[in-house]
Amino acid sequence: MTESVYRTGVVGCGTMGAGITEVCLRAGLDVRVLVSSAHRVDDARRRVTAGLRRAVAKGRMTPDEHEAALGRLRITPDPAELADRQLVVEATSEELHLKRAVFKTLDHHLADPTAVLASTTSSLLVNDLAEATGRPASVVGLHFFNPVPAMPLVELVLTDRTSEHTAATAETFAADTLGKEVIRTRDRCGFVVNALLVPYLMAAVRMYDQGVADAEDIDRGMTLGCGYPMGPLALLDMIGIDTITSVARGMRDNDTDLITEVPPLLTRMVEEGRLGRKSGWGFYRYDGGS
Ligand SMILES: NC(=O)c1ccc[n+]([C@@H]2O[C@H](COP(=O)([O-])OP(=O)(O)OC[C@H]3O[C@@H](n4cnc5c(N)ncnc54)[C@H](O)[C@@H]3O)[C@@H](O)[C@H]2O)c1
Repeated sequence: MTESVYRTGVVGCGTMGAGITEVCLRAGLDVRVLVSSAHRVDDARRRVTAGLRRAVAKGRMTPDEHEAALGRLRITPDPAELADRQLVVEATSEELHLKRAVFKTLDHHLADPTAVLASTTSSLLVNDLAEATGRPASVVGLHFFNPVPAMPLVELVLTDRTSEHTAATAETFAADTLGKEVIRTRDRCGFVVNALLVPYLMAAVRMYDQGVADAEDIDRGMTLGCGYPMGPLALLDMIGIDTITSVARGMRDNDTDLITEVPPLLTRMVEEGRLGRKSGWGFYRYDGGS
């Protein structure tokens, strides 16, 4: 029997943490968000509130539901406040030592030994995080996609040591409570989606850099020729050039079978601040980049 999850935690409130917090609140859950310092509390609240406001503006929740959601949200820099959580999703920056430290902290503070510890890492091995804890059977990957409220998929990543109870609780949480589509995957570098996607994106950058075709035609090739909703270079701009660069580097370090070598052009773009949509310029130019 899987226990249904109500008391949830999220660690980190950047792009993914804010999105995961939003979908948990919209699902009626009680959410505690752990941020790295007291200075980050206001910014985290602004991010989550902005997402909820967008949901109200689109008619996906009522103003009353919005108020009720904020009443179930607590943002704190104190990990002891996560002690009673049944499931926590770690969504901090993609750095192994940082995530291992977070997992160690969660292991120390979560009172229920069967509480689920999940990571939304894109490129690290979940087992490397599980090893930082004294409860590897309770650790899974819950790889959400960006933007979290809009993207239907979650990859449920099972290590060799994840218990079936943990897997079932995490799957019920993602599928039944949050309403996501779940695919189960083994703990291998890039799981299913990034292991296929990232080599393809790096190949598109090399093709562009070699002058095989211009950006529009590379993208039109894949939208019109393969029925993809977006071409690879437009997708890179949406993901963020800095984000994809660190994901590809992490994958290359973990699995040399995958062709995820970062082309020099991407490194130059990061150095120049050409980060894609968020900076107003990547492979394309955008108005009002933030
Ligand atoms: N952005 C994407 O498209 C995407 C998609 C799927 C998965 N992911 C994964 O999600 C995770 C987060 O990515 P993101 O894009 O949200 O990054 P981000 O940089 O937007 O957010 C990371 C957040 O972690 C916080 N943080 C760092 N150390 C912390 C600590 N010790 N305690 C609490 N908070 C801490 C930072 O302040 C920041 O707000 C990464 O593992 C990434 O690989 C990202």
